[in-house]
Amino acid sequence: MASTEVVLGERHLAGCLALSKSAHWNQNEADWRLMLGFGRGWGIVEEDGTLAASTLALPYGGAFAWIAMVLVLPEHRRKGFATRLLKIALGENARSGRVSVLDATPDGREVYRQEGFRDAWGFKRYSIPGAPRANVGATALDSSHWPEVLALDAMAFGASREPVLRDLASRQPGLARVAIRRGQVAGFVLGREGREALQIGPLVAKDAEVARELLETALGGTTGPVYLDIADHAAPLQAWVLARGFAIQRPFTRMVHGASGRAPGEAPLVYCPAGPELG
Ligand SMILES: CC(C)(COP(=O)(O)OP(=O)(O)OC[C@H]1O[C@@H](n2cnc3c(N)ncnc32)[C@H](O)[C@@H]1OP(=O)(O)O)[C@@H](O)C(=O)NCCC(=O)NCCS
Repeated sequence: MASTEVVLGERHLAGCLALSKSAHWNQNEADWRLMLGFGRGWGIVEEDGTLAASTLALPYGGAFAWIAMVLVLPEHRRKGFATRLLKIALGENARSGRVSVLDATPDGREVYRQEGFRDAWGFKRYSIPGAPRANVGATALDSSHWPEVLALDAMAFGASREPVLRDLASRQPGLARVAIRRGQVAGFVLGREGREALQIGPLVAKDAEVARELLETALGGTTGPVYLDIADHAAPLQAWVLARGFAIQRPFTRMVHGASGRAPGEAPLVYCPAGPELG
């Protein structure tokens, strides 16, 4: 059957959702709209109109762009679809002078390695069917905190991603929290609802004690299933969530295209990425 490459847009939203659902991923329509709103996407459409594959490129400033939502329907895998779309995204990023960065699943990592990506650092996704409500310590994020939150995130992540952070905060304002130390923002956490679970992240903090306070507060505001991704360089926080009943769902690898393998930003400040699709 012939397959055609297309630029993804609003009319492909149902197909995009079907793709992420087929991989049991957590993104909902709001996530796809956010990403397609500030990024570019490509798909492969079968003759019968089925969207069989997707790949997005999300520009974060002028230096790098995130490759996201690399998905192929199970019945269309190992036909080279992911590689085809990845090459388009890589070409687009190279033309705009941006390094390509992504967070890879174990399956995706094999595709990316062959296309010139190198490992930078790892994290794991943890899940729990229902998180108990607990004490709340950190402060609700309000408009006065945003300049410091954005500056801290830009340092940790390596670029400003204000529209993404504001979108997440507006979707779950009750989960948006900051930790204050000596009158300054020492860390923040955001969350968002998903198709399967509430996802907590990003969580950026100046030290491990701040990170744990923020996570405890965020978990205190949830009742249903929760996903959260914790960096491998934050091993005590990983151990803490396991002790609270979370289970490891899967590992991810942050990868960078090209020889350096050096991810943007200051990894030690990142306790929880925003999620593999957003960085
Ligand atoms: C990972 C995924 C996108 C790969 O899509 P695909 O179209 O099957 O990949 P390609 O056909 O382009 O694969 C190219 C090469 O990568 C390697 N590869 C692809 N999938 C692999 C897998 N599951 N395990 C090991 N190697 C794999 C193989 O070397 C393959 O070449 P070959 O088929 O000639 O052996 C697809 O399996 C998928 O959607 N998985 C679920 C979602 C996911 O994990 N996405 C990646 C997010 S980071």
